[in-house]
Amino acid sequence: MRILVTGGLGFIGSHLVRHLLVQENVWVTNLDALTYAGNPENLEDVQGNPRYQWRHASITDEVAVNEVLSAEVFDAVMHLAAESHVDRSIEGGLAFVETNVVGTQILLEAARRHGVGRFLHVSTDEVYGSLGPSGLFSEDSPLTPNSPYSASKAASDLLALAAFRTHGQDVVVTRCSNNFGPNQFPEKLIPLYITNGFQKEPWPLYGDGANVRDWIYVKDHIEALWLALIKGRAGEVYNIGARNERTNREVAAALLTLLQLPKETVIAVPDRLGHDRRYAIDPSKAERELGFHPQFGWETALEATVVWYREHRSWWKAIKSGQYRDFYHRQYPTLGTFAHDG
Ligand code: NAD
Ligand code: TYD
Repeated sequence: MRILVTGGLGFIGSHLVRHLLVQENVWVTNLDALTYAGNPENLEDVQGNPRYQWRHASITDEVAVNEVLSAEVFDAVMHLAAESHVDRSIEGGLAFVETNVVGTQILLEAARRHGVGRFLHVSTDEVYGSLGPSGLFSEDSPLTPNSPYSASKAASDLLALAAFRTHGQDVVVTRCSNNFGPNQFPEKLIPLYITNGFQKEPWPLYGDGANVRDWIYVKDHIEALWLALIKGRAGEVYNIGARNERTNREVAAALLTLLQLPKETVIAVPDRLGHDRRYAIDPSKAERELGFHPQFGWETALEATVVWYREHRSWWKAIKSGQYRDFYHRQYPTLGTFAHDG
């Protein structure tokens, strides 16, 4: 089976590529533009694998995308490439529209033109918008996204479904909840807190800290993506989640304990604009139809994540001393610098 993965140098994509290469008879071509979020180190261990190659191009480059798709006959596209950080989309949404919306449409059309079998579009629960204190997102919940990120993901999600309805293209869409685990860029909540903790830097907590996210370990998500690829029904949407809701305060408390840090580490900062209050996924369709069952518990997976960041200081220090510093200082102007060396 030949699979084109997009965004394979990012957080989830790199775990997916490694998982695919463990399967027998799977060849992976990774189309990744290497934006700030991509990192070749994430896939250093598979560089020499004869069943793996990286094509350095943007999904917004129609010529390059068509070249990649005409060079091989692919059985499937697994589309993960995206601008993925809500706070960056609040600063400016254009790159989000270009990559997430235009790039997805370019890929869908090229996949159709070149006779690719299945197109797995990796979407997010954020397309559903925000929940009140009760209830869960089902696949039939209305799409009411609130940030430029989630609006651009909703647009691409609907374009993928439209390709199924209009052209009969073999499209499957997954909508997963918040991921955490090794290799996540330290702008996202959990790796930001862990790495700031090692550097004795404060932990910015938005608003009242009572916002709820439904956390899933990245290795469970990629297993769900594989199951959706091989078992999902064309034209269907599958919610992916691990029934693991936590307030941001609870996440902070769990990490304070693991890192043995005082509660004063957590500093309240102004709330994110348009901050979604609560996400919670009903994954029963994926459980029923795909046989998806998460294997990793919250506590052990969070501890494994802390251990990974402890053992990979050079990976995140290179990021935090580079361009990311500028974004951090714009985002948290009151928190000072990464002065200390953890
Ligand atoms: P990430 O930001 O870590 O990685 C994105 C990758 O895409 C990077 O390697 C980057 O270089 C690449 N990329 C960006 N723009 C590109 C372009 N124009 N052309 C080619 N490559 C490009 O993202 P992630 O957290 O791994 O998320 C991957 C996918 O999963 C995204 O589609 C995201 O919306 C979705 N998702 C993420 C989460 C989460 O919690 N992180 C949850 C649900 C769904
Ligand atoms: P994030 O990891 O950015 O994921 P998303 O916005 O896609 O859910 O944020 C997770 C939650 O943590 C969200 O409610 C915003 C909050 N948050 C903070 O309180 N402080 C921070 O520094 C960051 C990055 C996020």
